Amino acid sequence: MSLSPTEFPQHAPAPEHLHRAAAQYGTPLYLYDAAELDAALERVRFAFGAARVYYAMKANPNLTLLRRLHAAGVGFECVSAGEIARAERVGAGGENVLVNGPAKSEAEYAAGARLGGTFIVDRAEEVDLLPPHSRALVRVNPALEISTHDHLATGAANSKFGVTLAQAPAVLQALRDAGHTALGLHVHIGSAIRNAQDFTAAFARLADLRPHTGPLAVLDAGGGWGLNADLPGIAREAWAVAGVFGAELWVEPGRYLTAQAGTLLTRVVGTKRTGRNFVLVDAGMTELLRPMLYGAAHPVSALWEGSENAVWDVAGPACESGDLLARDVTLPTPKRGDLLAIHEAGAYGAGMSSNYLTRSRPAEVLWEGGELKLMRRRETPEEVWAAEEVGS
Ligand code: LLP
Repeated sequence: MSLSPTEFPQHAPAPEHLHRAAAQYGTPLYLYDAAELDAALERVRFAFGAARVYYAMKANPNLTLLRRLHAAGVGFECVSAGEIARAERVGAGGENVLVNGPAKSEAEYAAGARLGGTFIVDRAEEVDLLPPHSRALVRVNPALEISTHDHLATGAANSKFGVTLAQAPAVLQALRDAGHTALGLHVHIGSAIRNAQDFTAAFARLADLRPHTGPLAVLDAGGGWGLNADLPGIAREAWAVAGVFGAELWVEPGRYLTAQAGTLLTRVVGTKRTGRNFVLVDAGMTELLRPMLYGAAHPVSALWEGSENAVWDVAGPACESGDLLARDVTLPTPKRGDLLAIHEAGAYGAGMSSNYLTRSRPAEVLWEGGELKLMRRRETPEEVWAAEEVGS
């Protein structure tokens, strides 16, 4: 989807603030709108009521965001030793930490246990790998067709995640037999799901397990909600399946909590016309990989004026043909130094940025109460290669 400048998204900070941020901190730059971060959490809480919310921090693990969410009573879903360390760093522990992942390391089990987190068991073998007396959920793969990019479908029969529906009751029992606390079931069918029916189908398959599991304490319905998802509808169905088990409801949104608040600001470096019209900008696959990796379409808006509109591809500085941030966007004629905003970039943007080409990962700022606050400074080249300075 592309937007003309007149369709500037409602949830983006006004253009003058974006100009100010770019002038002050340079580009490429991630800017997050605190009001929209709060509004997204409010929407989740309004829809899901008493459900416990765990933020899937893979969406954006910046400590400033985590501290805000922790202060608001949100827990964290962690999938690496580093993410568990971030949870600890912001003061989360115990019931506020979920330790997930299809291939957990010894270090992750140990750190999760030290923090008193709840483990999400992804295969039967894990029953014997868990630290003694762990609290655990069993992740179930409902084996459905999921309406999203293949890389983002986790509840499909051929995906690597979870235990089968048939295995789930026995894994719950095995947990109990091994002295763990089997809290209940977990399901997360994928990310950026387009069709709400997928949730309906997944929850129905879980409900069918009730005769084989008995009542459970917790039903974790995961995340995966698209930005335009009908949250009250998903919440109604999630609560219904929790009710089948007599369970409380937990959810794990990632994208929904941070995507719309984030804007990637990038400056025009120049233009060129080959077989297509290219506007070359100073951000690319190293700052926002999603368009290249998943064909994701982020709304783009020009922060410059011009009367003549044309259709452009937005290309980054990497020496790779796939290094495009957007295709076929209608923009007024760009010139060097103009500022372009790439929207809905607050989730899986900065967190997936890389040092490929010895690029410094971008700075991140929070727009809050009329002020800009630095959340992450831009790396220097020396910081990028620091871990390679190991003597010799
Ligand atoms: N819970 C579990 C177990 C997950 O694996 C994930 C995401 C979430 C919750 C949060 O899902 P969300 O609400 O954000 O859709 N890099 C991809 C997204 C990968 C998501 C992986 N798991 C992207 O850029 O779209």
